[in-house]
Amino acid sequence: MQFTKKVYENIYWVGTNDRGLKRFENMFILPNGVSYNSYIIKDEKNVLMDGVDSSALRTFLENVDYVLNGEDLDYIIVQHMEPDHCGSIDFILKTYPNCKFVGNAKSIKFFKQFYPNDKFVDGRFIEIRDGDELNIGKRNLKFIFAPMVHWPEVFMTYETTEGLFFSADAFGSFNVIEGHIQAKYYINNDSWLDENRRYYINIVGKHGKMVTNLLKKVSGFKINAIFPLHGPVYEDKDSISFILDKYDKWANFKPETKGVNIIFSSMYGNTELASDLLASKLDELGVENIRLRDVSDIDFSYIIADSHKYSNQVFVAMNYNAELYHKMDAFLRELVGTGYKNRHISFIHNYSWGGKSLDIAKSILESGKHKYIGEDFIINSSMTENQERDIENLAKAIKEDLDNQEI
Ligand SMILES: [Fe+2]
Ligand SMILES: [Fe+2]
Repeated sequence: MQFTKKVYENIYWVGTNDRGLKRFENMFILPNGVSYNSYIIKDEKNVLMDGVDSSALRTFLENVDYVLNGEDLDYIIVQHMEPDHCGSIDFILKTYPNCKFVGNAKSIKFFKQFYPNDKFVDGRFIEIRDGDELNIGKRNLKFIFAPMVHWPEVFMTYETTEGLFFSADAFGSFNVIEGHIQAKYYINNDSWLDENRRYYINIVGKHGKMVTNLLKKVSGFKINAIFPLHGPVYEDKDSISFILDKYDKWANFKPETKGVNIIFSSMYGNTELASDLLASKLDELGVENIRLRDVSDIDFSYIIADSHKYSNQVFVAMNYNAELYHKMDAFLRELVGTGYKNRHISFIHNYSWGGKSLDIAKSILESGKHKYIGEDFIINSSMTENQERDIENLAKAIKEDLDNQEI
């Protein structure tokens, strides 16, 4: 049974929803799955834009067959070689013997690395270079290389006739397609935006510079629609400017929201209590946006996305075997791996029987050029009554800093 959607005149979504995958890249949990987007452009030459994960092959092949409706497939263009998009190429080439596989020099190299025994691509590969064009009839496709907007060989495809942008993994999102495929049905939904941000920050985040290069490259183009490889498509002015504005912030590591994101670890509850007290003092001082998250409990990807979203973070941790508590150590390293920088940060540490946890935390974060707010707040095993004043002072310093920020 086919499951396809028309997304533009003579352009059809032939992708699939995957609700069975537990973790994207076996890293990031997927409470509401993910879609693998693939599109057919029908013209004098019929083009398939990207494939899907091989786990979804049956539905995918039925979708392609349904939309082609007896016509042949001339090209499959694969904008990057991650298996969630290229795992089905050989099956397409086997099913459509006249179809050519379009990619760049690195595409074929990666394809051969992933599928060394595949024979269907032999003699059927067309290599494109940055700026090359492919005319398919009424529509004309121009290829724009965008290295590291996820993978080194990524390119995107700009349809010059009507200004349609096939953006590979950029502007994608976690979550399956829930009936609606147009982004206008999702952009005002905060939980969807949280998943969109979590996708971008954790998967592409580190390469913000490459994303800003891409945004510069396409800023002169008229864009009437964006077709990403995951999540909804952007087809109206409001949705397009909404997502371009978000990407401008995310790619430049600018916070979106004035607020305090407290990230804590705790073994026996004493460090947790200090976090609760700080959050409560911030509330009493009138801070509106406060998040309080336990690194031991929550998938890092959520806390990392929020660390990019909020202006201020407080890292609360303790010594563990004279080092930094391992969960916090792992969290901070993963956070830094997403390019985390330019935030206003503070620390609460529990020294208990001694060690270097605070020094380790600071050295992990050092490359991010952060601004330190307030005095480091140190407790030994548990907070004492007369330390309440110190935690109040830390809350005041953070509040004052928030009041002086323009976001
Ligand atoms: Fe990818
Ligand atoms: Fe992808």
